[in-house]
Amino acid sequence: MATLATTVDGLKLPNPFIIGSGPPGTNLNVIGKAFKEGWGAVIAKTVSLDASKVVNVTPRYGKLMGSDGKEVIGWENIELISDRPLKIWEEEFKKCKQMFPDGVLIASIMEEYNKDAWIEIVQRCEAAGVDGFELNFSCPHGLPERKMGAAMGQDPDILEEVCGWVKGAATKPFWAKMTPNITHIEDPSRAALRGGATGLSAINTIRSVIGVNLDTLRPEPSVEGYTTPGGYSCKAVKPIALRMVMEIATMIRKEFPGRSLSGLGGIESGNDAAQFILLGSDTVQVCTGVMKFGYECVKPMCDELLAFMEKHKFETLADFKGKSLDYFTTHADLVKRQGERKAAQKAAAAAPQKKMVQADGEWSGEEFVKQSDALARS
Ligand SMILES: Cc1cc2nc3c(=O)[nH]c(=O)nc-3n(C[C@H](O)[C@H](O)[C@H](O)COP(=O)(O)O)c2cc1C
Repeated sequence: MATLATTVDGLKLPNPFIIGSGPPGTNLNVIGKAFKEGWGAVIAKTVSLDASKVVNVTPRYGKLMGSDGKEVIGWENIELISDRPLKIWEEEFKKCKQMFPDGVLIASIMEEYNKDAWIEIVQRCEAAGVDGFELNFSCPHGLPERKMGAAMGQDPDILEEVCGWVKGAATKPFWAKMTPNITHIEDPSRAALRGGATGLSAINTIRSVIGVNLDTLRPEPSVEGYTTPGGYSCKAVKPIALRMVMEIATMIRKEFPGRSLSGLGGIESGNDAAQFILLGSDTVQVCTGVMKFGYECVKPMCDELLAFMEKHKFETLADFKGKSLDYFTTHADLVKRQGERKAAQKAAAAAPQKKMVQADGEWSGEEFVKQSDALARS
């Protein structure tokens, strides 16, 4: 019988589905709902020492709809970290661990570039009983103005130093959550691991502008007629998240074997999760998906992931973690492999494959869409 149960960095999870930091983990009430519905772990909304500096606006989300006008495929937010005082969070973390002693509760923390502040927040959350940490180095809006979040996550030297401070203060595992708003995500990832992070999470949201209202001519989400670029999430970001997870996992495998990776970005199903695990994730997180479908979505996600495992006769997540990483290569190597296959086919006088454009001179104005389609894999 296949099992979804897994142990990552000493944390025992009934399944790899974790609530990603954001609205689905904003207070004890909703965190409790997540555990009751069977989520493998919860990462609470990001907390800081001084919540009085956090002032949110409304509206703060913008949606991109699919062509049917019903399905949400992209989601921008300009939401900040938690606006609730750390004192309240400390009480709720304690209560949560009393109510759900086996529930894995991870605090997401963010602070300014100040060693004492990072040490204080780690110690206070640990005293309240959390099982681990996620360091939010990746919020793309608002907080970079205070040199927090993505502003820190884009600077490998600072990342390494801050991870070193946390390493010195924490007795629990901690994951550094990486920003995708950078050219080579391996660079800050490597720095966080050098600094002592137990693992990494990727990705946070992608800096974005969701659209412009063609009646008012104002960009969205419009707050008093103005906006600011926000963070993009939901299924539209999945291909970018998968690419970054693949790059980080490849780097971890070569340079930091044994460190963990939590993948996220657009996960809405068990099959999405299977893809992130095949590209090297130990666990997967869901944030926007919970906002779209509710906490109950974990059950069909677990069922679909189990069905995938049974189809392939995988008994544990470890049986297929990273299994698809070996099939990435350079474009030059693809050309070589295809040349070899064609030569072999010619030698065997086999029938050529479905007619596809082989060279740029073959594109035709009349057949253009058909030719594009023939070249694509869905
Ligand atoms: C409304 C909203 C608020 C978020 N707040 C946080 C946050 O406080 N801390 C954090 O680390 N990530 C935050 N995120 C980012 C998510 O945890 C996640 O990295 C990102 O949305 C991609 O995953 P998804 O497509 O499953 O949402 C937030 C995302 C959304 C949509």
